[in-house]
Amino acid sequence: MEIRHLRYFLAVAEEKNFTRAAQRLFIAQPPLSRQIQQLEEELGVPLFEKGSRPLRLTEAGKFFQVHAQNMLEKLADMKTMTQRVGKIGQTLSIGYVASTLYGLLPEIVRLFREANQGVHITFHEMTTMEQMRGLKDGSIDVGFGRVVLEDPSIRRILLREERLIVALPLGHRLAEQERPIRLIELLPENLIVYPKAPRPSFADQVLAAFSAHSLRPENVMEVRELHIAIGMVAAGQGISIVPDSLQGMKRSDVLYREIEDMHAVSPILFNVRLMDQSDELRNILKTIYSIYDARGIAHVKEEL
Ligand code: BEZ
Repeated sequence: MEIRHLRYFLAVAEEKNFTRAAQRLFIAQPPLSRQIQQLEEELGVPLFEKGSRPLRLTEAGKFFQVHAQNMLEKLADMKTMTQRVGKIGQTLSIGYVASTLYGLLPEIVRLFREANQGVHITFHEMTTMEQMRGLKDGSIDVGFGRVVLEDPSIRRILLREERLIVALPLGHRLAEQERPIRLIELLPENLIVYPKAPRPSFADQVLAAFSAHSLRPENVMEVRELHIAIGMVAAGQGISIVPDSLQGMKRSDVLYREIEDMHAVSPILFNVRLMDQSDELRNILKTIYSIYDARGIAHVKEEL
């Protein structure tokens, strides 16, 4: 079976007609019919119901259609990913979730740039889910995300688990105490979570921290992104739970307090294309761990 058999089959399955499929493929109809016949002979099962007009797929045909589509998408990803890997020495495109920009990301990039002066660096703010697509379509080479998403083309390394903290508006009753706050104390508050979509997201990690203690916040308000959550907190609309790095975003109208509970953490993940062994990716990892060591930050370095 050749790749062209899959393309021909998908064109016929989508057009439900040999003549239109042949026109779309820029070939004559008899060779197209022969190719489909060859494919059915090789598989030993009919893919289309005989004599149906418009053409209908058999059960086996429907099954084959889904897998043929997946296979062609994988092939397209393989092509763009390989082309991108070949270009990493000149450009390194970094996908990141917004919160990492308030933590160590700027320092990591500064140090990396000093040691890799010929590499042009570009930045792309993306959710972890968008990073998965970006790695496959070649728009990024590395992603710093927070949600563990399974994908056979992607390698994920857990860098560390970052503590979560509470963002409170100035003058909030809980801001007066210096001691860490317990999640149970936050239950009556209006809890602002982000991002609204796509899910699963950081919002689900925050809610999971509550459910790990069998707690359920009474009022949850979903907003599009981090900056809106912080703006809403400043406006007194509620409180939000954010990664510790947000302490780097100082505002006079928002206060941050630690959380006592052990489940209140969010992972920082390093996402790259599987088998991408570029020097630049190795160097950026080395830079991250040297910063962790210099600052005494506990790291995990675990393949997920
Ligand atoms: C960190 O805070 O650990 C981190 C942030 C961005 C990229 C990598 C690590």
